[in-house]
Amino acid sequence: MVHRRTQVAIIGAGPAGLLLGALLARHGIDAVIVEQRSAEYVLSRIRAGVLEQTTVDLLREAGVADRCLKEGLTHEGIELSFDGALHRIDFRALTDKHVTVYGQTEVTHDLMQSRASSNLMTDYEAESVEVSGFDCERPAVRYLKGGVSHELACDFIAGCDGYHGICRASVPTDAISTYEKVYPFGWLGVLADVPPVRHELIYANHDRGFALCSQRSRTRSRYYVQCSLDDQADQWSDEAFWDELRRRLPAEIAEAVTTGPSIEKSIAPLRSFVAEPMRFGRLFLAGDAAHIVPPTGAKGLNLAATDVGYLARGLAEHYLERSSSGLDHYSTRCLSRVWKAERFSWWFTSLMHRFPDAGAFGSRLQQAELAYLVGSRSASSALAENYVGLPL
Ligand code: FAD
Ligand code: DHB
Repeated sequence: MVHRRTQVAIIGAGPAGLLLGALLARHGIDAVIVEQRSAEYVLSRIRAGVLEQTTVDLLREAGVADRCLKEGLTHEGIELSFDGALHRIDFRALTDKHVTVYGQTEVTHDLMQSRASSNLMTDYEAESVEVSGFDCERPAVRYLKGGVSHELACDFIAGCDGYHGICRASVPTDAISTYEKVYPFGWLGVLADVPPVRHELIYANHDRGFALCSQRSRTRSRYYVQCSLDDQADQWSDEAFWDELRRRLPAEIAEAVTTGPSIEKSIAPLRSFVAEPMRFGRLFLAGDAAHIVPPTGAKGLNLAATDVGYLARGLAEHYLERSSSGLDHYSTRCLSRVWKAERFSWWFTSLMHRFPDAGAFGSRLQQAELAYLVGSRSASSALAENYVGLPL
């Protein structure tokens, strides 16, 4: 048995866990990250691509924003496609803010590099991870690695282990409330080394279903189409994907799409989920471990970042100022932000997708709402404000 002690045990080396580790290190707070997968596996997951300014500011605070600031693409608007035409939502004019297109994989890579170069400890490939004692003064994490048992004693546990993690599941069911909505479709995503069709993202509402034209760089594109939950990614040939994407875009955009071999293709289900509260004694949930949004509003990664921004501040106040105020307010501060993002992501998803039971009336209502949205400054502003996000 290997025994160790740290101030904060972080479960999960996704963006929430890695960013929390980096922010704590800046305050001189010791943390160990325990991750069930390998570093290579974590880096191979292609997920989010849009960072709010608040997220970039947190990366800067953590000392890991150099590459993001240099290589990230500043986007001052998005385009909505419906009724065969594009309509721009101008973030700069409506909110004086922008977002940064920089992939989650790159954020994760930068955080991993910084952690490794500062010799901060991450235990990858940990099996049978268990958390205990968070309801009293003796929190601990136990796991197996290479057949050897490990015990990590700590002051606090940060549950950054995603939707399927063990931290939320370790809380007694009568101490937690959950709220959930599962959507009757998924997103089929393709990553390809082809130039993006436009310099800004296009969110398309079409009779055949939603489509999204996104990007990672000037030479790498990320495209999505709404698909059936019964679909399998490997049953979609690249050709079938490109054909379906182009059918859902205005003709002149469809013609401009550069196609090429996919370098990744996967299907993500869509879900809204919130667990309340986000603190249980000395256990704090953060990121997807506590909440899921459907990806339409590009909020998942940004919420994970702001959760750990609040948590790092609360822990710094605890250790450096001997104040429990930040930790005491952690759950309510996060949940206030989370529910705003849940509302926006649900609304934008409902507006842009084909729902099996909506019928012709539902689809005409979507058209009317989209026309109102692009025709009204206050409605466009509301979309822009929600998309670019709130300060911490
Ligand atoms: P995660 O990234 O899930 O990280 C959790 C980590 O904990 C993982 O590394 C996991 O291996 C580890 N872990 C799990 N269980 C244990 C355990 N028992 N012990 C130790 N470690 C454990 N958001 C967008 O904005 N746009 C998108 O296009 C988008 N696409 C997505 C596609 C998919 C398939 C998924 C699942 C999410 C997507 N998201 C998207 C959401 C966004 O990627 C997440 O909100 C973000 O990854 C949350 O970060 P996290 O660190 O909280 O959780
Ligand atoms: C991406 C994903 C999203 O969910 C979104 O709303 C915008 C961009 C992306 O993967 O690039």
